[in-house]
Amino acid sequence: MEVVRGKNIDVLFSDTEIQEKIDLIAAAIAKNPKNDLLVVAILKGSFIFAADLVRALYRAGLAPEVEFITLSSYGTGTEGKQVKIIKDIDSDVTGRDVLIIDDILESGNTLRFARDLMFERGAKDVGLAVLLDKESKRKGELTADYVGFICPDYFVVGYGMDVAYAFRELPYVGIVKGDAEDQ
Ligand code: IMP
Ligand code: MG
Repeated sequence: MEVVRGKNIDVLFSDTEIQEKIDLIAAAIAKNPKNDLLVVAILKGSFIFAADLVRALYRAGLAPEVEFITLSSYGTGTEGKQVKIIKDIDSDVTGRDVLIIDDILESGNTLRFARDLMFERGAKDVGLAVLLDKESKRKGELTADYVGFICPDYFVVGYGMDVAYAFRELPYVGIVKGDAEDQ
């Protein structure tokens, strides 16, 4: 398929809406300032959200350390998807306040894994920030501390998120045309 600057995409959340929301999230995070805050962005999908959010945190007066972890889920068995670490963070989290950033909270497997991992390693506190919450798809209990938008149950792309390696570069979140009718 030839892809020309997202022409097959319907915009769900615009660039402007996203930027306004990120400033609100940063202000909420800054209300409860942490010493020695460590931000852990989950790659690959959150890289643009994390880049915008850490700069919004800077404008809100915070100076976090920024780290990255690459996680992937696999398996579709009855036991649910397993999450594994593809590339780990380098920093020690012992005794630290950690803020995990991800693009989408869906079943909760990815963020539950990441949060538990940080606590097992001795983090003092772990907060969760997501751009999108597909709350209708949650498996078990998990709530993010900071949510950009509640997301309808469509497969979304853009703003860091891909389908088959495409569309990460779009400055907005959208739905691939055709998908909406399939739901
Ligand atoms: P969970 O582990 O089921 O909560 O799924 C969260 C992960 O699935 C996110 O980190 C995303 O990378 C990915 N994901 C879930 N829904 C979508 C989507 O609509 N578009 C792109 N990625 C998605
Ligand atoms: Mg992901």
